[in-house]
Amino acid sequence: MALHRLLGIDLGVPDPSTLDGFYQEIGFTGGDHHWGPEGVPGQIVVEEAPYRQLLEMRLACESDEDLAVIAKNLEGIGVASESREGKLHLADPVNKWRVVVEPCEVADISVQPQREINRPGERNRLGKRPGVMVEPALRPPRRLGHVVVGTNDILATHKLYTEGLGFRISDIVGGLGFFTRCSPDHHNLLMTPAPVPYLNHYALEHDDIDAVCAAATRYLGAHEGTQIAGPGRHQIGGNMFWYLRDPSGTFFEYFADMDRIVDEEAWAIREDWPMDDSWSLWGEKNQPEVFFTPDDMEELIAGWNKYHG
Ligand SMILES: [Fe+2]
Repeated sequence: MALHRLLGIDLGVPDPSTLDGFYQEIGFTGGDHHWGPEGVPGQIVVEEAPYRQLLEMRLACESDEDLAVIAKNLEGIGVASESREGKLHLADPVNKWRVVVEPCEVADISVQPQREINRPGERNRLGKRPGVMVEPALRPPRRLGHVVVGTNDILATHKLYTEGLGFRISDIVGGLGFFTRCSPDHHNLLMTPAPVPYLNHYALEHDDIDAVCAAATRYLGAHEGTQIAGPGRHQIGGNMFWYLRDPSGTFFEYFADMDRIVDEEAWAIREDWPMDDSWSLWGEKNQPEVFFTPDDMEELIAGWNKYHG
């Protein structure tokens, strides 16, 4: 596997300071528009832009040889890239955000102590109150796991990210929603058709379901009207989810327990996942109307047409 991890994203918003307060509040570390989990400030970088948008996606590969192979594959589909300071840079010709690929060590994030739970026949939490109750602070999000983008040219986008950059397909929903990965995560990038390219949501992984629900509940309590969907558990990817809206209008997802694909041959890609059986195994059966038509869709369309159309 050449690509092995989603390293980070740059978000463009009209007022970057609104997101500084937000990331601090949800438990990220950093400052000055650079935020992320402990030890990785800069996983999410915020820049000023005329309307909210994805500005950059950063990916890790294993070696310089990988960079050369990716550059050649991109050239093969007619996409220019440039090697600079040990990284491969390209401008996505369809969606207009930047993509940067760089060699990094293959590694997962550090493990936090597993909270003891009681289940029938296996009682591990003995004489103790629940971890989520007695731990001194809510557990923060652990990393950026995936992004979901809309695009007005799904086939060209699919070609760029799979044939060009080397993302692998995990599942396909409704014929045109491509769940793809650049790591063992079931998905790091979901591409879906949309009137214009835009960032639908970014997803932050938590240690466990308690952490997702506690963090989402706290956020909702302090920010009325930010509920988008959840809690639930997706069929595609298997992850437990809760979607909320950040102060810039972009949705963010807290998730835990996503499928991992480590044996490429053994994974059966499902190519015909019906739209009406893909949202959640429990909770609300269908995704809310707002999910793929955010309130600011008209602004996003106008912004795209003004600056990129
Ligand atoms: Fe998601």
